Amino acid sequence: MNLEAGTFEQAPVPDLGLEPIPAKAYYDPEWFELERKAVFLRNWFPIGHVCEVPESGNFIRREVEFARASLLIVRGKDGQVRAFHNACTHRGTQLTDATCGKQSKFSCRYHMWTFGTDGALLSAPDFERFGLDKKDCGLKSVACEVHAGLIFVNFDPQPAKPLREWLGALADGMEKVPCAHATNFSEYVYEIDANWKLTYDNFQESYHLRFIHSETGKATFSPANPFGYPAAQELHDPHRTQTIWTNPDGASLMTPSQMLGFKAGMKAVMRGDVPENPENRKYFAIFPSFFMLGSSGNNFSHTVYPIGPEKSRGVIRIYWINEDKTPAVRYGREFGMALTRDIHSEDISVIEAGQRGISSGALEHIHFQEQEVLCRHLYMMVDKAVREYKAEQGLA
Ligand code: FES
Ligand SMILES: [Fe+2]
Repeated sequence: MNLEAGTFEQAPVPDLGLEPIPAKAYYDPEWFELERKAVFLRNWFPIGHVCEVPESGNFIRREVEFARASLLIVRGKDGQVRAFHNACTHRGTQLTDATCGKQSKFSCRYHMWTFGTDGALLSAPDFERFGLDKKDCGLKSVACEVHAGLIFVNFDPQPAKPLREWLGALADGMEKVPCAHATNFSEYVYEIDANWKLTYDNFQESYHLRFIHSETGKATFSPANPFGYPAAQELHDPHRTQTIWTNPDGASLMTPSQMLGFKAGMKAVMRGDVPENPENRKYFAIFPSFFMLGSSGNNFSHTVYPIGPEKSRGVIRIYWINEDKTPAVRYGREFGMALTRDIHSEDISVIEAGQRGISSGALEHIHFQEQEVLCRHLYMMVDKAVREYKAEQGLA
């Protein structure tokens, strides 16, 4: 790869053909229901970060619409992070409506059944009258594993593969990014009237950059690479990666405030406040709807939760390591978040406009060109999972 000014050399782009893609996969309720069962209820899904549950008794609650579940992610006395359904095993009452907290046990307000941080039923008033064994009354758990600081859950009672094996070739690289060692993060959450794939694909292709981000993204394209295509795109079924292209003239195209933020981020890296990352500029796209950019200065992650065929929720985070030591570090971090939000605000309306067009039913197909191969790959992986599910269930 030659990054000299005025040149753009790209690793060979994987060839998945140019077949049109059925538009119904992006709005049809029946297809969405198949995706829910074949994809989201059977794969690992990143639900949080270990820095949210640093000590025994720390918990977070997550609403997971695609599983119709409310989950409690709890660190137990033994240090292990576990996931439970937020449902009392007596008659289902949700144990807490707090989004996070720290407590040594969970008591149900209805009849005071009380559970430990490992989910075991500790006590229940007049329990002898049930004719039950306490051992059989623990909270219902969901498979939960941690990798690179990220907490994943899997609603499959018997996940096909352990998390690390499922992450495959991407597992090692993910451990090198700042997120893996983070102690803090900034976050914003948004809801969007769009299918989860349309929402996610916007972050998988560079084709739109020069039109939608003509000002904010100026530093990401140049005459040698007018669309700012990635330096490399790789497929690792069902996941994928891209390496963001570095424009040799990028710095001179930044606005003064972008330059300040960029310099503050670089200084933080040089001082060791943010570790230098060998996977810098690499974008890990983890099936089905999570990605993480491994840049030291701007290691943002994005999780898209499907809510309905035409509705999604996105969670965007920038992870930090340690408290801010200087105002410059703080500035760099805040700036990174503000810039991400700025750029993303340009995307949201065009994604929703795309959804309205697709949902009208006017199109039978949509199209991905060669350089949008990551979007095509996501559809192909989803389609494969749906076909396998249908065959297994004996559905036509
Ligand atoms: S429903 Fe929880 S104790 Fe009765
Ligand atoms: Fe964009």
